[in-house]
Amino acid sequence: MRVLGIETSCDETGVALYDTEHGLLADALYSQVALHAEFGGVVPELASRDHTRKLLPLIDEVLAEAGMVKSDLDAIAYTAGPGLVGALMVGACTAHGMARALGISVLGVHHMEGHLLAPMLEDEVPEFPFVALLVSGGHTQLVDVAGLGEYRLLGESVDDAAGEAFDKVAKMLDLPYPGGPQVAALAERGDTARFRFPRPMTDRPGVDFSFSGLKTHTLTTLRTLERDGALDEQSRCDVARAFEDAVVDTLVIKCRRALQASGRQRLVVAGGVSANRRLRAALDTALSKLGAQAFYPRGRFCTDNGAMIAYAGARRLALGQRTDTLQPRPRWPLS
Ligand code: KG4
Ligand code: ZN
Repeated sequence: MRVLGIETSCDETGVALYDTEHGLLADALYSQVALHAEFGGVVPELASRDHTRKLLPLIDEVLAEAGMVKSDLDAIAYTAGPGLVGALMVGACTAHGMARALGISVLGVHHMEGHLLAPMLEDEVPEFPFVALLVSGGHTQLVDVAGLGEYRLLGESVDDAAGEAFDKVAKMLDLPYPGGPQVAALAERGDTARFRFPRPMTDRPGVDFSFSGLKTHTLTTLRTLERDGALDEQSRCDVARAFEDAVVDTLVIKCRRALQASGRQRLVVAGGVSANRRLRAALDTALSKLGAQAFYPRGRFCTDNGAMIAYAGARRLALGQRTDTLQPRPRWPLS
């Protein structure tokens, strides 16, 4: 079965073609980052308009790259939610319209399920069951995954998502959006011993997260440095490093707890923040001590992309699942 995947939930237009026999045939991505840069975040109306401009050309590009035409498609999967309603609508309308014209199946996919299954596009496929750490700009969740669609939320952020905290700290440091990679680059040159920031909610049981206080702590530290005339380049790097260390440590502590409590031996890490190099290194070290293993998507499939939607869609379409109604779901809990 050849499945076209369409992702338009936020500020990336992603399209891919996945073949259940031959794997990923082609994928293309158009990022709107430059469009939203001057606003310091995603502007929903601009996002929808840009998806409208880019989606059809990207579909043509992916089909051409795979040496196929529309009539070679067996099904279309699109992100039905969660996300920005106008942006989701572009993908949903295109998917349903194309599927109807071609007389093929169509399925709306949960964006976070796409992220969660993205490591399965790699050579070493994580087998069910596992614990998933979903860390993106909108979500920080630990989920127990018994099988496809069998999700149990173990814990989540009670305020900001980890990626959102990275983005806000980037803003404080006058770095452009999206800030995660920028803060991580600055942290590379930071001294880990200079500041120690709090590891929120690690001193109490459970696997919920909170990143809002850490963000405020970062702001206070920057203001104090500025007041004392000490906010030089090295201090900016040291603050970025202290912030990153605190986020990474907190995520590692909670992942370790979730694995121990659930008895699972595999951890799947996905979503934009899973691209963070220091997070990967720290998780690998911590998990090897537990006899557990972590699985990650390749770099470009950590952030939003069409391949994860094509893949998640293919898994569900293979079970006979279809979507009859064109109904984006901007708020849609995973479990
Ligand atoms: O999954 P994603 O592309 O979009 C959402 O569904 O939110 O995640 C984007 C988030 C942004 O907050 C971005 O700053 C963060 O992932 N991010 C990173 C890194 N790369 C992307 N955060 C920390 N370190 C990175 N290397
Ligand atoms: Zn995402």
